Amino acid sequence: MTHAFDYTRIPELPASVFVAPLKKPAGLADDWLEPAQRKYGPAEHRIWDELYARQMQLMPGHACREFMHGLERLNLGRGGVPDFNEISEELKSLTGWTVVPVPMLIPDHVFYYHLANRRFPAGNFIRSREQFDYIQEPDVFHDVFGHVPLLTDPVFARYMEAYGRAGWKALKYNRLKALSALYWYTVEFGLILEDDQLRIYGAGILSGPTETVFSIEGRSPNRIHLNVDRVMRTDYTISDLQATYFVIESFRELFHLTEQRGFEPIYESLAPAFQYAKTAALDTDHVYHRGTQEYELRGGRGSGARPI
Ligand SMILES: [Fe+2]
Repeated sequence: MTHAFDYTRIPELPASVFVAPLKKPAGLADDWLEPAQRKYGPAEHRIWDELYARQMQLMPGHACREFMHGLERLNLGRGGVPDFNEISEELKSLTGWTVVPVPMLIPDHVFYYHLANRRFPAGNFIRSREQFDYIQEPDVFHDVFGHVPLLTDPVFARYMEAYGRAGWKALKYNRLKALSALYWYTVEFGLILEDDQLRIYGAGILSGPTETVFSIEGRSPNRIHLNVDRVMRTDYTISDLQATYFVIESFRELFHLTEQRGFEPIYESLAPAFQYAKTAALDTDHVYHRGTQEYELRGGRGSGARPI
C-alpha cells in the first residue's frame, strides 16, 4: 500500500465530491475544534450519570469485553461528564489517542483528518432531558461512552487511524458514501463473536438501551458476517434501528479485511449509488440469522412498531 498522501494536513475537498453542507460556527478554524471543553452544570452532569447507569445495566452480556475493559480503564463512571483532558492523558499513554471537542457533526474530510492523527472529535454538548431517549446528533454521551472505550484497544485504535487515512483515497475516487457505509456497519453498528456469543462493539448501539437489546436478541434484523465489498454497497438506516448487522470474529480480522488490502479495486468497481437494500440477505452472504424484518415492515420508529 502506498502512502502518497499528507495526513498531517486537512485534505482538500475536490469540487466534484459532495459532503453535507454543514455551517461552521463563527470563530472556529478549519479543523472545527473548539478551544476547550465546555463546563457542564449540575443538571447536565446528572443527565450523564443517569444515561450511564441505564446503559451499565445492559452492558454485561451485550457489550464486548474490550469495551468493558476500556470503560474500566478510563473510569468513565467516576461521576458526571468526563473531563476530556483526563481521559486523553490516559488514552494517550495506552494507544496515543486523544479526545477533542467539536460543536456538532463535522464534515467528513475534517473528521478523516482528526482520525488519521489519532484524535477523536467528541460532541461538546449533552442532550436535554426531553431528548433523553433519542437524539440524532452525536452528543458527548454517544461519543465518549460509545466510542472512546474501544480506543484503549491497540488493534481497534489502529483500525480507527487506518479508517481516517482511508478517507484520502475515498476523496480521490469520490467514494465517500462507500467508506461511510463501512464506518456505519463497523464502528457504529458492529457486532463481534466472543466465544461463539454475539456481542456489541458499535458505538451507535452501545449508547442506547433499545438497540443494545434489539441488535443481539431481536428476530427482525439480519446478522451477517462482515464482507467489506458487500458492506460498501449496502444502504443503511440513519435515524432508526438497523435492518442488518454485520459480524466480525475479532478486531484483528477487521483490520486485515480493511487496512491490509487497500480499497482501490472496490472503489473502481463501485456504482455511485448503493446496490443492496439495507434489509437484503444475499445468496453469497454468510448469514448467522435471517431476520424477519417485521420491525422494518411495520414502519419502524414513529409507527409504534415494537422493536422485536
Ligand atoms: Fe458515532
